[in-house]
Amino acid sequence: MFSGEATERRLGIVGAGKAGTAFARAAVAAGYDVAISGSGPSDRIELIVEVLAPGARALTTDEVVAYAGVIVLAIPMHRFRQLRRDLFAGKILVDAMNYWDEIDGVDGPFATAPAGTSMLVQEWFPSARVVKSLNHLGYFKFEKSRRPRGTPGRIGMAAAGNDRSAVAAVLELIDILGFDAVDAGNLESGLALQPGGPIFGAGHSAKELSSLLSREAALLPAN
Ligand SMILES: NC(=O)c1ccc[n+]([C@@H]2O[C@H](COP(=O)([O-])OP(=O)(O)OC[C@H]3O[C@@H](n4cnc5c(N)ncnc54)[C@H](OP(=O)(O)O)[C@@H]3O)[C@@H](O)[C@H]2O)c1
Repeated sequence: MFSGEATERRLGIVGAGKAGTAFARAAVAAGYDVAISGSGPSDRIELIVEVLAPGARALTTDEVVAYAGVIVLAIPMHRFRQLRRDLFAGKILVDAMNYWDEIDGVDGPFATAPAGTSMLVQEWFPSARVVKSLNHLGYFKFEKSRRPRGTPGRIGMAAAGNDRSAVAAVLELIDILGFDAVDAGNLESGLALQPGGPIFGAGHSAKELSSLLSREAALLPAN
């Protein structure tokens, strides 16, 4: 089932806030070498990383991208267009971002993106292999819910993307980070993972997630 691309055991994270540092802690605990960046020079986040994600290294965003084949993008959505369009060329880009108008401002295209905001992320970074994931649990729930594979009551985490080998790598990453991985289908299906979607915010089992996602897919018009 798994592709092996995530077994490189290196993870890059762009965004050293609440979500990015929670992902970094989980990845360090799972034995990953983790590099993480904020919007500025690495020394600006060194203390944050030392305190909130010990074991991860603070780098600049360019260095983070050079460091790993899988990069998690965990910055406020209104900021991703500040990044160069070719920055993630060839990389697996895990879009963990959600649109929140109180943080991102009222943005019509984000609010109404008919096929989900990850399609806009993919449009902006055309050469990246975008996978929507890690976004549908709050960082606190993410932190408290991760469990080794096979633990009774382990909850699920979904991933959606068009590049199927990238999705396979992210499913493997999800499992390693402590969740039962659920393939949600193509990138447009990432709409169901967003705020307001059927799985957002709750801690469902993989079985429940799959059933909620299939129910949602059945409601979509066939194309
Ligand atoms: N909070 C959660 O529970 C949670 C869970 C899942 C997903 N998410 C999503 O993850 C994203 C981040 O949320 P958050 O709560 O972690 O936000 P946050 O605590 O405000 O942190 C945002 C981080 O992004 C960095 N950043 C901003 N612009 C950047 C840029 N152009 N390049 C590199 N880094 C940049 C900031 O660095 P500077 O300080 O240097 O600007 C900061 O480290 C949002 O889209 C959110 O919806 C959040």
